[in-house]
Amino acid sequence: MASSEPDNPARPPPGTRLCAVADLADPGTRGFRFREGSRLFAGFVVREGEAVRGFVDSCPHAGWPLAALDDRYLTRDARHILCAGHGALFRLDGACVAGPCTGERLRPWPVEVRDGEVFTA
Ligand code: FES
Repeated sequence: MASSEPDNPARPPPGTRLCAVADLADPGTRGFRFREGSRLFAGFVVREGEAVRGFVDSCPHAGWPLAALDDRYLTRDARHILCAGHGALFRLDGACVAGPCTGERLRPWPVEVRDGEVFTA
């Protein structure tokens, strides 16, 4: 299981380039994995228009990674983020609106867009 604590040494430092905004569908998502020794940090980004948000890839219900397949975080209609574990649905801002963790939120992974590129913040 991915570790998501703030002190996780695998968490990339601010300013780490992740991808170009143009690499993401609109709306679209992409997952990222970083390793440091035996530790893993998993996060993903969600594009909605020109806005890009980042979240730790850990469902508030059981802590599992959300996607069963790489980069497939959205429902087929791309209106929600889906947890493959038990089917929780999240708005694109990270709020859970259906499933076992309704009312909870995905943990933010701060990112910022500079000159069309997405960086950790
Ligand atoms: S682990 Fe996500 S809904 Fe259960």
